[in-house]
Amino acid sequence: MIRGDRANGMRKSFKAECDTKAFLLWLRITWSGKRGDNFESAGRKPAEVRALNELLSNPESVTKARAELARVIGGNKKVEEIDVSNLPFLHSVDMKDRMGIALRKPEPLIELAKSGYTPAHTKTRTAKSLLVEGKHLLLATMLKPQLHQSALPAKIPLLLPKPFLHGSGHAAFPVHSSSLFTKPNKQVRVGYKHESIKSIASVTQQTTDVKAVLTVKQTVVDFWSDIGLERGLDDFTDLFGKTLLLELVSAELDPKTGLEKASIRKYAHKIDHEGEDIKYEADFVVPPDFGEVGAIFVENEHHKEMYLHDVVLDGFPTGPVHVTCDSWIHSKFDNKKKRLFFTNKSYLPSETPNGLKKLRGEELQTLRGNDNGERKKGERIYDYDVYNDLGNPDSDPETARPVIGGKQHPYPRRCRTGRPRTESDPLTETRSGSFYVPRDEEFSEIKMGTFSAKTLKSVFHALIPSLSSAIVDSDLGFPFLSSIDALFNEGINLPSIKQQGSWKDVLPNLFRAIVDETKDVLKFETPATMERDRFFWFRDEEFARQTLSGLNPCSIKLVTEWPLRSKLDPEIYGTQESAITAEMVEQEIKGFMTCEQAVKAQKLFILDYHDLFLPFVSKIRELKGTTLYGSRTLFFLTHEGTLRPLAIELTRPPMDGKPQWKEVYRPAWHSTGVWLWRLAKAHVLAHESGYHQLISHWLRTHCCTEPYIIAANRQLSEMHPIYRLLHPHFRYTMEINALARQFLISAKGVIETSFFPGKYSMELSSAVYDQEWRFDYEALPKDLIKRGMAVEDPSAPNGLKLTVEDYPYANDGLVLWDIIKEWVSDYVNHYYSDPSLIVSDNELQAWWTEVRTVGHADKKDEPWWPVLQTPQDLVETLTTIIWIVSGHHAAVNFGQYTYAGYFPNRPTTARMNMPTEDQNDEILKLFWEKPEVILLTTFPSQIQATTVMAILDVLSNHSPDEEYLGQEIEPAWTEEPVINAAFVKFNGRLKEFEGIIDERNTDIKLKNRNGAGIVPYELLKPFSDPGVTGKGVPYSISI
Ligand SMILES: [Fe+2]
Repeated sequence: MIRGDRANGMRKSFKAECDTKAFLLWLRITWSGKRGDNFESAGRKPAEVRALNELLSNPESVTKARAELARVIGGNKKVEEIDVSNLPFLHSVDMKDRMGIALRKPEPLIELAKSGYTPAHTKTRTAKSLLVEGKHLLLATMLKPQLHQSALPAKIPLLLPKPFLHGSGHAAFPVHSSSLFTKPNKQVRVGYKHESIKSIASVTQQTTDVKAVLTVKQTVVDFWSDIGLERGLDDFTDLFGKTLLLELVSAELDPKTGLEKASIRKYAHKIDHEGEDIKYEADFVVPPDFGEVGAIFVENEHHKEMYLHDVVLDGFPTGPVHVTCDSWIHSKFDNKKKRLFFTNKSYLPSETPNGLKKLRGEELQTLRGNDNGERKKGERIYDYDVYNDLGNPDSDPETARPVIGGKQHPYPRRCRTGRPRTESDPLTETRSGSFYVPRDEEFSEIKMGTFSAKTLKSVFHALIPSLSSAIVDSDLGFPFLSSIDALFNEGINLPSIKQQGSWKDVLPNLFRAIVDETKDVLKFETPATMERDRFFWFRDEEFARQTLSGLNPCSIKLVTEWPLRSKLDPEIYGTQESAITAEMVEQEIKGFMTCEQAVKAQKLFILDYHDLFLPFVSKIRELKGTTLYGSRTLFFLTHEGTLRPLAIELTRPPMDGKPQWKEVYRPAWHSTGVWLWRLAKAHVLAHESGYHQLISHWLRTHCCTEPYIIAANRQLSEMHPIYRLLHPHFRYTMEINALARQFLISAKGVIETSFFPGKYSMELSSAVYDQEWRFDYEALPKDLIKRGMAVEDPSAPNGLKLTVEDYPYANDGLVLWDIIKEWVSDYVNHYYSDPSLIVSDNELQAWWTEVRTVGHADKKDEPWWPVLQTPQDLVETLTTIIWIVSGHHAAVNFGQYTYAGYFPNRPTTARMNMPTEDQNDEILKLFWEKPEVILLTTFPSQIQATTVMAILDVLSNHSPDEEYLGQEIEPAWTEEPVINAAFVKFNGRLKEFEGIIDERNTDIKLKNRNGAGIVPYELLKPFSDPGVTGKGVPYSISI
């Protein structure tokens, strides 16, 4: 609206003229009714009043105007301020010459007065509101000139849809609510007196004044773009109070037409700017027949996108209406489609209010897209594709990689980006441009400098190239064990990055230990394990303990059959029988029991990387700087409840004309044996590291979750209660996964260059997905049962009896599983009080079907997929997903620096074969003379080790704004008192769980989680401070 001195120069515009005419018309009517005078006689702009009168008195021009209104506005909608600009005929009605309108007499105004129009509200008005009302009056009259007499008494509300106006001088506005915010019933008399005809409008009405407050978050881009053309234009837009156009959408259908009611539109203007919050406000006058607000449309009038946090509509008798958006609103100059947000109230599809059903379906359709074209930054489309963008063969043929996903290499699907295919390989997508993720899955611009992912980007963009230039020889290993320690004491001199500031600016967390900021030295922080015990990595009992409470507690299994045998084809891989014999076992456990008794008594456990890795040995050995064996590591459960390593078997299949080779190493009491044992452990630890990163971490959490997220956004409406339950668990995962595709799992990325499988890393991950992954086994209890680590026992606290009683990951994990399950049960049972609602929930069923058949398409025919038929099915499925993204991910992610920061404890690769394999004289000589050199050469190179250390530091880090499981309630959950109460219980149990963990960590009987020099097991402790703390369970996989 143009107003005040600023607008003087623009008063000649058509829009202003139209506003003025409408304003005058309203004034004229009011004036007449109240003072018995007419407007012209007051000497106000007679020419304009005449023009309006003449327009209304000319049937042809009225017809034209009506036709325009019907075409542009439609016949069932209140005309809003915003519509005026789309009505060129009405803009030009006073231009008689151009339009050829013959203007005559003012009789139609009498009819208008007879129609009983009453302005929407009657208290003291601003000039702006009067202008708007004047237009409503004018346009409403244009749209519906048929006037009817009504005998109804003035005080009886008439439930008539807009814009039908009923006569006898009474405007008809249905009233069905009252409140402090709703104006009290009062007789409003609005009339027009003209010559001998008297017409009085008298109504009973109850409108509601509603104030909308929008909170927009200032972004990094905002912060840095205070200068510039777009910023200037946007400031101008703010100045005119037209930053965001807000539309209220009724949840009800128009009872008369059965169609959606017209929305109510207003511009929101900027009112406040505090910190990163910018407030906008809009005042609505909501007619009494509007019904409940079910959604809002938002249009961003700025030239750049805005991050809208929420909208609160205050003034309704039932209390404020909250709309949590947390979404990027594109500029209308980029995309004319308005954004839709539903209120925080959740509805199953069958319970959707009628006025929202169509919008619910349309919004999902928008998010699904059309499966065509390249996705552009800023879009919101969720779709699937295979992992066909790992390499860039056009620029480097050595980076050509097979497509991961599909029959040959089964794998979960990723987010579709639709980039063009490469010229060298039509199956491979180019890596040019950005790695698209739907706009609201991105996060980096909101939380400047706090997200670990931003730091991760700095590691990839700045640190890794600098490390490469500082350590020229990429094969160079560490010359002494003491030179590894120097990484923490003296650091590495890096090239200066003066252009970007200091290293401490770019990577504050990583460079926190540096005292002298002027020096470009990367000095790693000493990991907590090393801080407590310098020799922790060398000891056997610590090696065994970490299988239960370390970084990868997901691989240890009970031995249930003896002798150990391979299932691989002996023709290809050699003899199936393990070289670990019962006799060897008995020599180690002498005095306790026989091997047979140990198996029976469930005392033998194994890390089994034999059958999984053996098929990869031949090709991985062809790669430079890495080697591989199949491995089996056997443990014995001591009477103290701890594991003791008994033997390591390393196997090479027949290859290069040589027969199968296998050797068993055991703890020894002589120097050669000790060093061989130490070397064999280094190989097994590399296997552990690779399996941990590629399977327990990447595949089982990050990668397998992406299809759940894509399907949820495509099939579950934002207002679906299950979408709202899952939403916090899906935050930022697609973005961090896209980052992983760019830098970690990509061809020649960090995983390939630093972990033993090299260029076969993703193929190995695919093989494990193919052979091992089952959705039902992702549930912690079933995973433990599958590995023989637990048996069902109804009398046990969690319904499971653990095979190793002191198994910290399982002990704590099962408590957390139960807490999550109880919360999910409360939630599901509230919304699905009738079990049949599960089967009839078409969105829920479509989501799960799509997860199974599209997102995990390569496993779509597996019989083990759960079906969603009962609330119990849904609870188990949702608990499994939530456990994976919260507890499981936390357990394998946030201890990475603690346990692998000192890399000899978990080397990511083994670069040379065991000295005894090939009996090479030179190697054997070196082994005899300097076994430490063999060990250091087996360890990762300097560049491999330091790159991984830097990345693990970032991955293990909690950002200051980390969102922990059950810490803060989601706004939508507060809408339902039952859910609110369930959350309070959930939060309370999590806090209680912290105490349980603390107690366990002080119980000296639990030797696998505490003891001299041991870092207590806190990885599943729900809450944490920022930084590398080794605890804290976030809602979602965000790093
Ligand atoms: Fe992670």
